[in-house]
Amino acid sequence: MEGPALLRLWALAAPCVAAALALGVARAAVPEHRVLPELRVSAETGAVFVHELEREPFLEAFAGREEDDAPVTFRAHLWDHPDLPRWLRFVQRDGGQPGFLYGCPLAAELGTHRLQVLAYNRRTFATVSQSLVISVTPAPGGDAPFRAEFVVGDRNVEELLPEAARELFLRGSAGVWGRGDLHVINVTSALDRGGRVPLPIEGRREGVYVLVGSHSPFSPCLLAAVSPQSRSRCHRGQRPLASCYDTFAPHFSIRWCNLTLQEVRPGPTAPGPVWGSGVLEEGAGFEPPSAAAPRDVLPAFLVTLLVPLAVAALLCLLLGHLMCCRREGLEKRDLQTSDLQLFHHSSIAGDTRELRAMAGSRDVRRPLSTLPMFAVRPGQRRDPAGSAPLLPR
Ligand SMILES: *[C@@H]1O[C@H](CO)[C@@H](O)[C@H](O)[C@H]1NC(C)=O
Ligand SMILES: *[C@@H]1O[C@H](CO)[C@@H](O)[C@H](O)[C@H]1NC(C)=O
Repeated sequence: MEGPALLRLWALAAPCVAAALALGVARAAVPEHRVLPELRVSAETGAVFVHELEREPFLEAFAGREEDDAPVTFRAHLWDHPDLPRWLRFVQRDGGQPGFLYGCPLAAELGTHRLQVLAYNRRTFATVSQSLVISVTPAPGGDAPFRAEFVVGDRNVEELLPEAARELFLRGSAGVWGRGDLHVINVTSALDRGGRVPLPIEGRREGVYVLVGSHSPFSPCLLAAVSPQSRSRCHRGQRPLASCYDTFAPHFSIRWCNLTLQEVRPGPTAPGPVWGSGVLEEGAGFEPPSAAAPRDVLPAFLVTLLVPLAVAALLCLLLGHLMCCRREGLEKRDLQTSDLQLFHHSSIAGDTRELRAMAGSRDVRRPLSTLPMFAVRPGQRRDPAGSAPLLPR
């Protein structure tokens, strides 16, 4: 008895359960998407460009429903393309850290690059997008010819990208170089140069290559660190020759054995694009030219319209005069012809008319002599015996 009753209950309940499930699935399948206002930044050729993707603006845009420390991951790609431009790289350690877009644009990258940045909330799967426009301008002083690449052993790449860390690094390199006009050209993770992922032990880092450029020659200290004696000491596992105090200590531990110095001779640089007067300054708004002063176009209009009309009217008059007033009519012809001739002519015309009238009223048969077979041509002879009768019998 109980079996069929249960079955009936289940049959009633099943559609409700299915509807509730479907509703829940539909809710979860459509996460929110918001768009932040466009952001414009600028970069210079020959210097490192770093854009930090901070989590806060994106967290605010996630409607603030979740607590503020939701993990956020970023993705970035060229607008309408799947990947980043060649010179730009992206790094984010984990959802609790900011992301960094960084790279060094060269002369080939002059112009604007439009990226789309997508932020995912890892709790709600909501997304926020922002378009980022990077305008790359030429470096005012040209490329730095003297470059030193330091290998920092105790850092990950994203730890050297914030402005403050780069400033600290430049202060250290200014100490060993003895110059103040240094700037960071490129920052690269050692992993991108074939380095190994460090063991997950506290304090182990990937290592970072930092390329620093200057317009002034290398200091004796740097030259000593790359000298053959120094290199041979490195091969023997000893410390390199140090002729000066390591001003990076204690913030950064530099691997002095891996220091490389490059001197880039400025080759014949291709002339860059020349900015015409139509290019707006950065940040300047477009001011349209004032409205043109109203011009008096009536004289031009009249000349264009009236002169052809007047010429056409003149031609019309001339033609009309020639055809109507200068016409040589019947009277003039008659006046110029002698009376005798006129009389002769009019009598012939009268006779012809009379003959025609008579011919029209006659209804006898036409004489055979008028038929074409009797039309004898001049000089032709006809045999009278074989000739046909002139009149019908
Ligand atoms: C910067 O480093 C990256 C990665 O090593 C490299 O591909 C790129 O050519 C470098 N850029 C410059 C201007 O040296
Ligand atoms: C650093 O220099 C040492 C000694 O010259 C060399 O064995 C090692 O491969 C270098 N490491 C890197 C990451 O270039």
